[in-house]
Amino acid sequence: MNYNCFQIKVPATSANLGSGFDTLGIALNIYNKFTVQILKENRLIFEGIDKKYANPDNLFYRSFLEVFKSLNLEPPGIKVIENNEIPFGKGLGSSATQIIAGLIAGNIICNNILTKENILNLATKIEGHPDNVAPALYGNLTTSMVLEHETINMVNKVNPIFNFSILIPDFDMPTGEARKILPKHFDTKDIVYNISHALITYESLIEGNIDNLSKALGDKLHQPYRFKYIDDYPKFEKIFKEHHAIGSYLSGAGPSIVFITEKNNITSRKQIKENIQKNFKHWQYRDLQIDKNGTTKKFLTSTVAS
Ligand code: HSE
Repeated sequence: MNYNCFQIKVPATSANLGSGFDTLGIALNIYNKFTVQILKENRLIFEGIDKKYANPDNLFYRSFLEVFKSLNLEPPGIKVIENNEIPFGKGLGSSATQIIAGLIAGNIICNNILTKENILNLATKIEGHPDNVAPALYGNLTTSMVLEHETINMVNKVNPIFNFSILIPDFDMPTGEARKILPKHFDTKDIVYNISHALITYESLIEGNIDNLSKALGDKLHQPYRFKYIDDYPKFEKIFKEHHAIGSYLSGAGPSIVFITEKNNITSRKQIKENIQKNFKHWQYRDLQIDKNGTTKKFLTSTVAS
């Protein structure tokens, strides 16, 4: 290890994409940055986060320790400066950024012994599902499958014909709670509905098939249960339809909502944006781009976070 200070930048992610529950995810261009400095003494210092998270139970730090545990090594003391742009508890993968950054930080200090695949396996184990951690690590569109000790992941590029916009409310929906409200068992026909819709969604996003994507963005496994807690959703659906959006879905476990439009349909987005800003004061509108790089790292000579 020649450097004692480095910065890790992890993108936001939007999981599920409708029917791809715990499987599909995309990376988006808002970022959490973690500047890590190795300390001479065995201390843990956090800056840039609420005091209540600045302790050894911190998700970044627990993930950091996993690397040392898996390699049977002793962790050094560290100072972590967080510069977080991704809103917390909104279904945009902010926890995944903590996990990935903690693992990558640990791995840098351990001379990158772990491969990217090892990192994804550990991240999936910590998060419990791979659909945020995979795109956070790899960027673009990911599809993942979890085996007993391994997460298989494939990365593909979203066709540039599509534009992703997001509506972020001022209320939170913790993933743990949003998972508890889901049924434990489903009808075979609902499972078949989701498998078929997820595959058509995936192919359409890559191929740029607007018509098929508009028909495939349904879901029977989680959205019907979660949308019950988002009173404005039926109104949004009407607005999206009226202004020719291709479709919409709940971002991860919610509560943010993603809608997809044709990139060159600027009028559609403008009208939706105006409507939301005028009539829905509790929701913030943002246009985002697909992040193509996933997690990146750079080595620094000082701890000045940029
Ligand atoms: N697939 C997870 C869920 C995503 O829907 O619960 C959480 O961000």
